[in-house]
Amino acid sequence: MKPSIIGITVFLAATSVAFAEGVVKPTGNPPQFPKAYKELSKQTKPPTNNWLLDANDDSERFRRLQVAMSGTDIPMWEITYRYEELYTAIKKNNWEMGVYHWDKIRDRMNVSGMKRPVRTRNIEGMFLESGVWQSMRGALTSKSPERMREQFQVVRQVCMACHVAEKVGFLNDSSTFKETESFHD
Ligand code: HEC
Repeated sequence: MKPSIIGITVFLAATSVAFAEGVVKPTGNPPQFPKAYKELSKQTKPPTNNWLLDANDDSERFRRLQVAMSGTDIPMWEITYRYEELYTAIKKNNWEMGVYHWDKIRDRMNVSGMKRPVRTRNIEGMFLESGVWQSMRGALTSKSPERMREQFQVVRQVCMACHVAEKVGFLNDSSTFKETESFHD
């Protein structure tokens, strides 16, 4: 890097820290590990913001990452966001935006199965390999507004059917399913 670029980078880094410090004031409370996570008390170093680097070894670092990345819930947040953007894409007849989100939904579904392997059977059997995923993609690339809208409603039903199959049917009252129940504004 040229010195001028280094200078700008350092300046930007310094100002962003300064901005954050300007609004987030220290409380003065002592740093401590959450009691719920007993493993953390084995750490030789005292608790600091270096929650990964300060761990005693790499297997503890990976364990912490695994805890922090959680299970199906975070991918489902991402899936819900992309499902809503798919809905918007279909409303606007923007099939490319639809395909973009739809392909990423497949990736997030697979990540869910990696993290929670007991969910894989329904992820694949009900969603990815049942024809539903492929039909939605086909509807998008057909660029037919009618097909897209029709297929989106099938997707919505399958999302909810899987929640029932996975014994989390109470989640079907999530606001997203009400908001996407039809294409009439
Ligand atoms: C494997 C079947 C399955 C499919 C298919 C599925 N879900 Fe889920 N979903 C789950 C499970 C299981 C949970 C609960 C996660 C947990 O226990 O942490 C969940 C949780 C959720 C949540 C709550 C997330 C949170 O914690 O805030 C929403 C919203 C959601 N799903 C939306 C969707 C949408 C939208 C689709 C379709 C595009 C979909 N789901 C498809 C199984 C599925």
